Amino acid sequence: QLSRPLDRYQRPLRDLRVSVTDRCNFRCTYCMPKEVFGPDYPFLPREALLTFEEMVRLVRLFASLGVSKVRITGGEPLLRRDLPDLIRMLNEVDGIEDIALTTNGVLIPRYAAALKQAGLQRINVSLDAIHDEVFHRMNGGAASVRQVLDGIEAAADAGLGVKVNMVVQRDVNDGEIVPMARHFRGTGHIVRFIEYMDVGNTNGWRWDQVVSKREILERIHCEMPLEPLPSRYYGEVADRYRYVGTDEEIGVISSVTDAFCGTCTRARLSADGQLFTCLFAEKGHDLRSLLRGGASDEEIRRWITEIWRNRTDRYSEERGQATKRKKKVEMSYIGG
Ligand code: GTP
Ligand code: 5AD
Ligand code: SF4
Ligand code: SF4
Repeated sequence: QLSRPLDRYQRPLRDLRVSVTDRCNFRCTYCMPKEVFGPDYPFLPREALLTFEEMVRLVRLFASLGVSKVRITGGEPLLRRDLPDLIRMLNEVDGIEDIALTTNGVLIPRYAAALKQAGLQRINVSLDAIHDEVFHRMNGGAASVRQVLDGIEAAADAGLGVKVNMVVQRDVNDGEIVPMARHFRGTGHIVRFIEYMDVGNTNGWRWDQVVSKREILERIHCEMPLEPLPSRYYGEVADRYRYVGTDEEIGVISSVTDAFCGTCTRARLSADGQLFTCLFAEKGHDLRSLLRGGASDEEIRRWITEIWRNRTDRYSEERGQATKRKKKVEMSYIGG
């Protein structure tokens, strides 16, 4: 069937993660280490970026192929000028039922009301520690915990749903697991603990820095007993738990020790219009050239369909010795 392609493992195409910029105002050591992403780093020039019109055209084509969920990412997406306009335009696309944003949070107070008004429903905010010295060390000294908490509060005040993402790195912030759980318990904001992944080529990832889902759960469970919850939809990346006898929830994203490639329905579009069929793909497919070369909707649709049908990615399930040698795309470029 041309209209709903399945890949080689029968996975449908349901989500599109759209990166709107490769720049960020943070320098998280595991994502954009300062030594690599310094003043001379060749970020994408403005003319390389897709315009909002180009993005919306692609989203419309993706929607016709089965995509119903769009997540805006970066770098830091709120650095992209007039982002609420893009949200408004995406809201008008038939078939798109869920629009969300992943951000580091510090610019939310400036944009929360406009984003909500533009039709954004929910936001995922990254916060790796509740203690400033640990947080500083991780984000390259870019922001304080208070600034991110203010962002979270501003989002909630504007009526946006908020989830908090914490990437856990052993000997860096694993001491923050329980304090983060405790801090957000009862706030209505779900914290998701994320196993540290070997994305990109610059963060010096090592296996022994991964704290497994099992260990994360054990540490929280010891202090505040947990019980599992069923997943909310096919292909949800986070496993859900609640504190026993409450409706207060947490999540764990275990892409290293318990990969979820089997149900992966995600495609990714970089800010310069390259289509990636996996977070760990070596290279993308150049949709921007098609767009700017005057291709028709039908031609682009056919091209995307072909790419998806040939998709065999399942990197996290195959992760192994090959990891080190493979050249991968950077997290800040592909948006996680
Ligand atoms: P929800 O729709 O709120 O569930 O969002 P999400 O968890 O899919 O997105 P978010 O941007 O908050 O990402 C949370 C973590 O999951 C990040 O570390 C992402 O890199 C990771 N993640 C999301 N999708 C994938 C995926 O397809 N593969 C892998 N390996 N990691 C993913
Ligand atoms: N492993 C796991 N998650 C990561 N993120 C960034 N780099 C990594 C990594 N190496 C997270 C960010 C953000 C989301 C998009 O991905 O913290 O919450
Ligand atoms: Fe920026 Fe997010 Fe990467 Fe940190 S993890 S440097 S906030 S894009
Ligand atoms: Fe999907 Fe690739 Fe992540 Fe597996 S590693 S879940 S195939 S994006």
